[in-house]
Amino acid sequence: MLTVHSDPARFRSVLGHFATGVAAITARDGAGKPVGMAVSSFTSVSLRPPLVAFLPGKSSTTFPAIAAHGTFCVNVLSAGQEPVCRALAVSGGDKFAGLDWRPGPHGDPVLDGVTAWIGCTVETVHDAGDHYIVLGRVDELDADPGSSPLLFYRSGYGRLAS
Ligand SMILES: Cc1cc2nc3c(=O)[nH]c(=O)nc-3n(C[C@H](O)[C@H](O)[C@H](O)COP(=O)(O)O)c2cc1C
Repeated sequence: MLTVHSDPARFRSVLGHFATGVAAITARDGAGKPVGMAVSSFTSVSLRPPLVAFLPGKSSTTFPAIAAHGTFCVNVLSAGQEPVCRALAVSGGDKFAGLDWRPGPHGDPVLDGVTAWIGCTVETVHDAGDHYIVLGRVDELDADPGSSPLLFYRSGYGRLAS
């Protein structure tokens, strides 16, 4: 019998049946330049105190800049923002070259056209295998109720049926 240890592709395939949204986690690096990464691992955690979480991989080159900065903004991507997701899912290069944004909470980028944004301060970072679990304390947040979210399911993108 194959175990999850001997068959990581099966692990990914089965876990990919859990449908999620997609968020862009943004911050500034030490030089003030915008940094960001696409994640499907964003979740709400606690109301009192208000906490959210995302899980960056330990190989991420962007997460160390986010951790050093100490604050981040969660941008919930909207249905038309698959290209934004792809731009932020590559490692290296100027990911923000083709993206429009404005400084949001703590100066962290709020991308144009997102469904919602959530400005956070890093509360704790927990070790979790080949990932970290990052808890963020929510400082400010807003949503566009007329906007529809980008969905991610079995390695593909989708949107809610109208
Ligand atoms: C839909 C989607 C969801 C992703 N979710 C995560 C995630 O939850 N955690 C993570 O570390 N990487 C995730 N990634 C991959 C990162 O976006 C990507 O590895 C990272 O941004 C690489 O760039 P970096 O080295 O600048 O961090 C996801 C990519 C896509 C396209």
